[in-house]
Amino acid sequence: MSVSGSSAAAGEIAALREQLEDHNYRYYVLDEPSIPDASYDRLMRQLRDLEAANPELQSADSPTQRVGAAPLSEFQQVTHELPMLSLDNAFSAEEMLDFERRIMARLKREEPIEFACEPKLDGIAVSLLYRDGVLERGATRGDGRTGEDITHNIRTVQSIPLKLRGEGYPAVLEVRGEVYLPHAVFESINAKARAEEGKVFVNPRNAAAGTLRQLDPRIAAERPLQMCCYSVGLVEGGALPKRHSDILDALQTWGFRINADSDIATGAAGCDDYYQAMAHKRDGLPYDIDGIVFKVNDIALQEALGFVSRAPRWAIARKFPAQEESTRLLDVEFQVGRTGAVTPVARLDPVFVGGVTVSNATLHNRDEIERLGVMRGDSVVVRRAGDVIPQVVSVIADQRPTDAKPIVFPECCPVCNSALEFIEGEVVVRCSAGLACEAQRKQSIKHFASRRAMDIEGLGDKLVDQLVDEDLVHSAADLYALSQQQLAGLERMAEKSAANLLDALAKSKHTSLPRFIYSLGIREVGEATALNLATHFGDLNRLMDADEEALLAVDDVGPVVADYLRQFFDAPQNIEVINALVAHGIQWPAVEAPAADAQPLAGETWVVTGTLDSMSRDEAKAQLQSLGAKVAGSVSKNTTRLVAGPGAGSKLAKAESLGVEVIDEAALLALLQSHGAAPA
Ligand code: IVH
Repeated sequence: MSVSGSSAAAGEIAALREQLEDHNYRYYVLDEPSIPDASYDRLMRQLRDLEAANPELQSADSPTQRVGAAPLSEFQQVTHELPMLSLDNAFSAEEMLDFERRIMARLKREEPIEFACEPKLDGIAVSLLYRDGVLERGATRGDGRTGEDITHNIRTVQSIPLKLRGEGYPAVLEVRGEVYLPHAVFESINAKARAEEGKVFVNPRNAAAGTLRQLDPRIAAERPLQMCCYSVGLVEGGALPKRHSDILDALQTWGFRINADSDIATGAAGCDDYYQAMAHKRDGLPYDIDGIVFKVNDIALQEALGFVSRAPRWAIARKFPAQEESTRLLDVEFQVGRTGAVTPVARLDPVFVGGVTVSNATLHNRDEIERLGVMRGDSVVVRRAGDVIPQVVSVIADQRPTDAKPIVFPECCPVCNSALEFIEGEVVVRCSAGLACEAQRKQSIKHFASRRAMDIEGLGDKLVDQLVDEDLVHSAADLYALSQQQLAGLERMAEKSAANLLDALAKSKHTSLPRFIYSLGIREVGEATALNLATHFGDLNRLMDADEEALLAVDDVGPVVADYLRQFFDAPQNIEVINALVAHGIQWPAVEAPAADAQPLAGETWVVTGTLDSMSRDEAKAQLQSLGAKVAGSVSKNTTRLVAGPGAGSKLAKAESLGVEVIDEAALLALLQSHGAAPA
């Protein structure tokens, strides 16, 4: 190749690297993608081709070289020049006040202290060493003094710059932070592991640790780890800003990801406000945090405060209630749900986890029992995060008692003794008896009466159990034949409550077609599908008569749902119940076929997040769909609008970063009303 050809290639390569680094930075550090993935891939391919044709222009800090390294045979030890410390913990607002008092006394200061506040990511601490702006080494924390060299894996993390951006960085800069796996990546790694019968990780933290501990960097490259920076270590040949929060901002301009929720607060009171706000946000975050780290923001004050043993005096971690605890599994019961699914439920020695006392946890299904290898009497780890039902996540194998007993999955329905359906390739095992099974009957009546279905106030789960046990009710239709006398005769039922229930039943007769369809409890027919069916057919009889082809023409109805619908409406006992309900006076206003102008939001994509006061998110979703909008679960650049209530988290941040319009509940209500839709 001629000299001029090579220098033209050099120019092109440099320009492509710069463009790709820029896109990486926007995508992985700022969460603001600037070009479609396909365009990014095209640029990457061009660069790879050019580098292959000009091997003399290869460079270790090229964006093509993230998975360049060959597998290691062993890890090298790394000594941290400045030890990587740990943090003291606080578990209450009082302990935070003590922390503030200690600091003010030591500094002999009366003025309130400014604190930098950051979510405490639950991942693996790492150290990144840059010399003259180039990544030289990545290491684990290890015992704080000595860690392991994991540069080969660190290079695969897209949010870690191989080369610093901008200028003004010190000649030697050690950046510290947490490497973690977002929930979505963790789930997909485990899904893949299950499919390939590989190692399933207990939680995202273990998965991140397991990934960093691999000798072959190709494994890390397949598992998109994330890195968030929270401090610096060794700094030589340059100065940094004088406040911690400004240091983080500087790190961001040099190419590092910092937590978007980081903030500044004044005094212990300000820290408490921040802690409470993040506690609300915690469950909506796409990654695990186990507390908040508060740091004195002024570096001069940090230096004056210094350290005690292995932790700084100027920082503290206020922990959230643990989401995982260990306890004993006493027994397993098998519950039968509305669709006959048999779910093993672990009865536990009560344990305080995720802020409440938990005595039951789901074991999901037969495969899960096998996967966990759990036995009756075992010590198990129970997880409860947010509103998700508590789950058994692992067995503590070395604590197995000698009298532990195997868990045997039943061969017949544990409620009605009918045969169970074990379908090849399906994890869920079902009772085959349908509504002849008492458990399925009870569950389907509970569903029928529930708030989002027929909304029969006062008809709770216990009462339904009682009514079925006493043989007063066999189907939802029988509810409307109940008399005051029958109800008042029930145990723990006062006359007044009986009268109230009859009123509630009478009131529930005036419903809407979508609610009625939803209340039938047809498999896979949730509120959104019920609404689509109601607006598509406009009439119950037309829906009941629709053949598969007609059903498939409905939005969101695929062959599986169409089949469930046909099975449901083909069963004579279901038609009998529907006819009896109508004969009891259940009614709804006629649904008009949607005229083109009744779909003012057609073509728009909405997302709803946070808490709404006047309706549930599902109701908001149904209303928006009735106006023609598509309602998506996540924000992207195709989102038309985001409705954000209090507690909105990452979706709000993403919408803001993408410039998507955000409206609050009041604006949503005004909009719904202006289009003639309103909360039910
Ligand atoms: S500061 C001297 N900030 O928590 C300061 N640590 O219990 C030491 N961690 O090993 C760390 N998020 O792995 C700091 N925003 C944050 C953090 C954080 C998570 C981890 C870190 C550290 C452990 C200390």
